[in-house]
Order: sequence, then structure tokens, then C-alpha cells
Amino acid sequence: MWRLSVPLLLLLLAATGGRSQEVFQDDDEDLLLARTQVDVVGELQYISVHITKEKFWVIRDSDGKMTQIASGFQPPPKDDYGNDIVPGAVVSVPCYIDPSGVCNPIPELKMTVISDTSSTIMANTEPIYQRLLVIILDMAACGNPASIKPVDAATIWLGPNGDGLGGMAQKFTQCSYGMLNLNATAFRAITVQASCIPEVVDRCSFLSIINIADTGAKAQYGYDVFSTFTHIAYVLPPKMQSVCPWSGLALLPGNRIWLQTAAYGVYRWSTIMQESL
Ligand SMILES: *[C@@H]1O[C@H](CO)[C@@H](O)[C@H](O)[C@H]1NC(C)=O
Repeated sequence: MWRLSVPLLLLLLAATGGRSQEVFQDDDEDLLLARTQVDVVGELQYISVHITKEKFWVIRDSDGKMTQIASGFQPPPKDDYGNDIVPGAVVSVPCYIDPSGVCNPIPELKMTVISDTSSTIMANTEPIYQRLLVIILDMAACGNPASIKPVDAATIWLGPNGDGLGGMAQKFTQCSYGMLNLNATAFRAITVQASCIPEVVDRCSFLSIINIADTGAKAQYGYDVFSTFTHIAYVLPPKMQSVCPWSGLALLPGNRIWLQTAAYGVYRWSTIMQESL
């Protein structure tokens, strides 16, 4: 994990120029549009889509806010200073932010690496104990109820006795020779009643799913308890299968996964395993 102090981040933001605005003519639309140029600074991550192998790049800032980079973007292997641009690196990306909040990288301005801690992540040989929160989204308000309960999630992740000796916890421990484990004491699963915003129910926006689920979980647990979880899994209601074209998604390197309530989603341990690694 990277850590940048707030003063350092502010300094970086100031040094890299902050924002400016440009007015330009859009030939196709014949409209005058104003677009804002911003340097988005944060950890480079990607969301990998189970089955299609599609990738969406995102920048996660120090407050946890995520900015999606326009689809089709692929970061260059190195920046101008020869630093490797790898997932997990803290980068600064000059972009135009479009009305939906997506960053469109400015072609002539390159991404720069501020710090790359991937080598220290690789050197970490201590066993990991994930503190997992499973958030089951329930959107019954628009006929999209959850079909699994927190106790079912505990069975899936911790095994039939809820003790971490079965389920995903056992598979993590066995497949990693004890390096990757779930902390069964810290494990929690909750249902969050979410409002049916179009970004989620019509467009399956994974960033909107994070926002509504995290907001609901913070309201139930309080911010302090919420921030003790190191990993979050979002389980969508079964009807979302017709909206989201995937059974599972993962943020990489990262601590969040999205799963469908489906045979190839939350009910399939290899999907959970693939998304969790
Ligand atoms: C697991 O979580 C409990 C409760 O938060 C904590 O006291 C304990 O130290 C954790 N164990 C490990 C191995 O991380």
C-alpha cells in the first residue's frame, strides 16, 4: 500500500498545475463546449472483468475517490523519466474531465510516476490476514431484492460453521500455503438497502455501486469501524445479471471485488478466488 502525506499531495497538486479551462469548438456537434483540464493524482488501478478480460483503468486518490479513465486507454510502459508505469504506482495524469466524471487523457501531455511501491509489495513475505466486509446490495425498492443473506455470505467465505475453517477462507489458506488468509473474527457481512439510481440499475456502473454500498455500510457501522476493513466484496441482486455483462470484477491491485448472485458469481469459489487475487 502507498501512503502519501496530505501536505505532500497538496504540494504535488500545486506543482503539477491544478486545473485550467479551455473553450473549444466541437465540429460534429457544432457546439461550444468548455472542458476542464485537471491533473488527476492517485494510485493507478484497473478493474478486470471476469470472462471478457476487458480492463478499465482508474485512479484512486488518497481519499478513496475513484476517477475512471476513458475506455480503450492503455498506460504506456514507462513515463518520460524511465519509471515503470505499473498498477499500484502513484501517478499524475493530465486529463479532460467529461460531464460524466471520466478522465480523457490529454494526448500531448504524458502521465508521470510519482512513486512506485510495487517492489516493496513484492518483498512482503508476512502472511496476510484480510479483514473482509461483504456488502449485499438490496434494491427491493425497484423490484431488485437481494436473494442471499449475511449468514449465507458467512457460509460461503468462512465455511458451514462460520469459523474460517471452511469456505473461501480454507481455499485461500490452502492455495497460498498459508500466506493469504481471512481473519474470521473480523469478517462481517451486511445487507445495504440501496436506492435505485440509473447509474446502477440501468448502466451497472461499478464506481456508483461502490459509492452507494460504502455509504450504506458507513451509515450502519460508522466511519471508524468501516475503515478497519481491508477488503470489500459487493454482491449484487440476481436481477442485475441482465444489466451487468460480467459475473465478477476486481479492482487491481486492490481490495474490492464485485460479484453477481449467480452460479458463475458468488456461488462459484473459483470466480471469487480469481477476483480476490
Ligand atoms: C483478527 O481480527 C481481530 C478482531 O479485530 C484482531 O483482534 C486480531 O488481531 C486479528 N488477527 C489477525 C491474525 O490479524
